[in-house]
Amino acid sequence: MKLVFATHNANKLKEVKQLLPSSIELLSLTDIGCHEDIAETGTTLHENAYIKARYVRDHYGLNCFADDSGLEIDALDGAPGVISARYAGPQKDNEANIQKVWKELTHKTDKAAQFRTVIALCIDGEEKDFEGIVRGKLIHEKRGEKGFGYDPIFIPDGYTQTFAELGNEVKNKISHRAKATKMFIDHLTYD
Ligand code: IMP
Repeated sequence: MKLVFATHNANKLKEVKQLLPSSIELLSLTDIGCHEDIAETGTTLHENAYIKARYVRDHYGLNCFADDSGLEIDALDGAPGVISARYAGPQKDNEANIQKVWKELTHKTDKAAQFRTVIALCIDGEEKDFEGIVRGKLIHEKRGEKGFGYDPIFIPDGYTQTFAELGNEVKNKISHRAKATKMFIDHLTYD
């Protein structure tokens, strides 16, 4: 079976490919000749994941899944959420995004937050979605060199180090993305 992952991110594609059985031929947007950036105009992670997956199904007639992730801060009612990459502006500047989180949290005592991933799957005329969450807290300093995005300021519950200190070996076991991906793959392989 051919299955498209609606992403241009080669690392994400490689990661999922390694977890899928060889009976599933995983294709990227580039593989199917889709070179445009599908506009993520939704107001939730759920909407954005479905926008991308449905776009490929409707324009290319192929089975497809897509993901969308974000940081959700309790004291900010779930912000930055769906705009995590663009929190401080359209330039998608990680450093500016972190500075903005610190500014918004200045007078808040509750530093609890979570990362959340939603995967939307459009397959054989059906739709299904999967969600992964990792809870933790934010700190007011950057620690660690690994990872990306908000990793240097996020300590997952049960740990004393940030995602940027823990690195991929731990992160790939406990992260939001790992949990959603596992549920999605279990669905494809066992259901
Ligand atoms: P995406 O949907 O996976 O591209 O994630 C959107 C944005 O959410 C990223 O650009 C980051 O700002 C943030 N984000 C998502 N997942 C992570 C993570 O695992 N660590 C740090 N930041 C993340």
